Amino acid sequence: MSSTETRVRVWDIGVRLFHWSLAGLILGAYLTAEEDATVGLHARLGLAVLAWVIFRVVWGLVGPAPARFRTFVRSPREVLAYARDYVRGQPGLHLSHNPLGGVMVVSLLALLLALTGSGLLMYLGPEWSGPLSPYMGRSLAHGVEELHEGLAGALPVLVVLHVAGVLLSSRLERQNLVLSMITGRKRAPDATPPARARAPAVVVAAGLGLATFIGLGLLLPGRADAAETPQALLQSYQRQAEAEGSGFAGFDPARGKALFLKETSGADPSSCAGCHGADPTRAGRSPAGRNIEPLAPSAQPERFTDAAKADKWFKRNCKQLLRRDCTATERGDVLAWLLTL
Ligand code: HEC
Repeated sequence: MSSTETRVRVWDIGVRLFHWSLAGLILGAYLTAEEDATVGLHARLGLAVLAWVIFRVVWGLVGPAPARFRTFVRSPREVLAYARDYVRGQPGLHLSHNPLGGVMVVSLLALLLALTGSGLLMYLGPEWSGPLSPYMGRSLAHGVEELHEGLAGALPVLVVLHVAGVLLSSRLERQNLVLSMITGRKRAPDATPPARARAPAVVVAAGLGLATFIGLGLLLPGRADAAETPQALLQSYQRQAEAEGSGFAGFDPARGKALFLKETSGADPSSCAGCHGADPTRAGRSPAGRNIEPLAPSAQPERFTDAAKADKWFKRNCKQLLRRDCTATERGDVLAWLLTL
């Protein structure tokens, strides 16, 4: 039965490239998601995923017959009937995805669209001082981040189900469906030759995917240009401060100095100066006795040249002393003061 004569070329090169590129890109995105140092790469990988997903959606509308949604998206009734045959161990052959596979493909595409979309919003928002910062308040930015993380947790579940479904179907249909996604050939129910990809359709789909990648890539604030200098970081704090509330009226070095020196009863050390010293052009000392480089950029030029590092320490140190994160206005006040030293 599985001799080469009964095999039909089902998956065109677009679908196969999409499938394996996507698998690789998603794996890469997961491996680069956690570390500060790789989050710029993570964003680019996510963007490439989005571009491929857009390609696939367009391909599902204008691509060859087996690639089209119309071919493999079935009514709930058909999906249920197929599921029953599947449970009985006797699923019929389908030229394209089987009806359950169709549900999986659509679910994966929808999830990836929401996942990459929310990731993109995070990048364009206040966290990265992106172009949407003035329009996104704190709670919205936070909600988008939660959504992104929730979806990122759901994706591996779908992927595991997808792989399990492919392996089980391979057994039941007595053919290697993983190999089919490489060679493009599959045992098919009848001899209907699948339509070939038409050149204009290829150009449209690939062009849209590429345009997405390049266009949105240009919008992403790079990690380096988000803040290479303390002045650039101060500007990004200003954009965040404007987004936090309408009452923002500029940074005040005196207010920053006061925050830095302010004593908090019950905390040990009791102020920022307790570690960094009252004169930030000189080195400070941690409670454990470790030397802390001067905080003022005039004394230590590497200070505030890395937005993620500055934010991380502001968060940690503000939490310790104020029991909350510093607002963008407070961070800007302190930095504005340090820049006068
Ligand atoms: C318990 C000691 C301690 C206290 C209190 C403390 N810091 Fe720090 N701070 C550190 C250490 C340790 C580092 C990281 C080591 C380094 O960068 O040299 C750091 C780093 C920083 C940085 C990173 C600057 C950069 O390189 O980008 C900022 C900003 C900062 N602190 C601000 C504050 C502010 C504001 C306060 C008061 C709310 C404060 N710190 C209180 C110990 C402290």
